[in-house]
Amino acid sequence: MVRTGYYAPNIKTSFSIRQVENGGACIHKMPANRSRQALTTGSTGAGIKGKEETMTDVILETRNLTKEFKGFTAVSAVNLQIERGHIHALIGPNGAGKTTCFNLLTKFLVPTSGQILFNGKDITMDAPAQIARQGIIRSFQISAVFPHMSVLENVRIGLQRKLGTSFHFWKNGESLKQLDQRAMQLLEEVDLTGFAHTTTVDLPYGRKRALEIATTLAMEPELMLLDEPTQGMGHEDVDRVTALIKKVSAGRTILMVEHNMSVISGICDRISVLQRGALLAEGSYEEVSRNPQVMEAYMGSTSAELQGAH
Ligand SMILES: Nc1ncnc2c1ncn2[C@@H]1O[C@H](COP(=O)(O)OP(=O)(O)OP(=O)(O)O)[C@@H](O)[C@H]1O
Ligand SMILES: [Mg+2]
Repeated sequence: MVRTGYYAPNIKTSFSIRQVENGGACIHKMPANRSRQALTTGSTGAGIKGKEETMTDVILETRNLTKEFKGFTAVSAVNLQIERGHIHALIGPNGAGKTTCFNLLTKFLVPTSGQILFNGKDITMDAPAQIARQGIIRSFQISAVFPHMSVLENVRIGLQRKLGTSFHFWKNGESLKQLDQRAMQLLEEVDLTGFAHTTTVDLPYGRKRALEIATTLAMEPELMLLDEPTQGMGHEDVDRVTALIKKVSAGRTILMVEHNMSVISGICDRISVLQRGALLAEGSYEEVSRNPQVMEAYMGSTSAELQGAH
């Protein structure tokens, strides 16, 4: 997959610079082990000379992704590139189109135009179940938990869902044992071992989110989509779930919508900012939080602090 970007030879670290829709440019630090250098094919490069094109390992890409609702454009020609292994945040003021974007990516909505590519394959017309089978799993939706079952049973159901009809667990005691072992491993991963036999409805709120992450992990996601994972939580739960997201991101890619800027600054590698359906800026937290257009979008003022913005 070819990725437009630039290599700045006079700067020690490699940066990619990307032009976004409104003409603004942003700089994105690219760890050397995640990027490969290739020859430039020529483009608009924001004033840096002697550039080479940087190729990154893109797991998910959108090309001019657009969604209109009866003439109203909720998502407008969005070009996203999610790098494999990243925790990538989608942020923006209320009504910016974040959830609509998520719904397009998971096929809960059909785009009006544009393309979605997963691992280089066009999945624009695929059905939601096909997307899930390929490894794009959205948490807090597919993984809705059953409140009157135990925590362990909920994870086991997630595993059975993944295994589908090929796994006749009820016919074989040994298989059932393996399923329980795997479920316990997943509970350990999200620090819920002590709650295995708790009825789900009795779990504290933050722990329920941890369970939802475990049931998502049961689906073996390559790309996890989290829509506001810390929404409605107190400080302690926010910290726990943030640490958990960081932990489970190992070997996976995460795309999350999040309003809490301290969560974003703490764990996200890259941020895309949407405003009125269009991509406004992209970059690291440091970059986008200093971007005057982003501040303006959030606070209506270029001098405002983004930190703590909703
Ligand atoms: N089914 C729909 N029909 C008509 N308009 C819609 C529909 N879904 C979303 N919209 C509109 O599209 C715009 C984007 O909505 P969306 O929910 O994607 O925003 P968001 O960034 O997720 O906002 P929030 O931060 O409040 O969750 C809004 O103006 C919303 O009213
Ligand atoms: Mg939303």
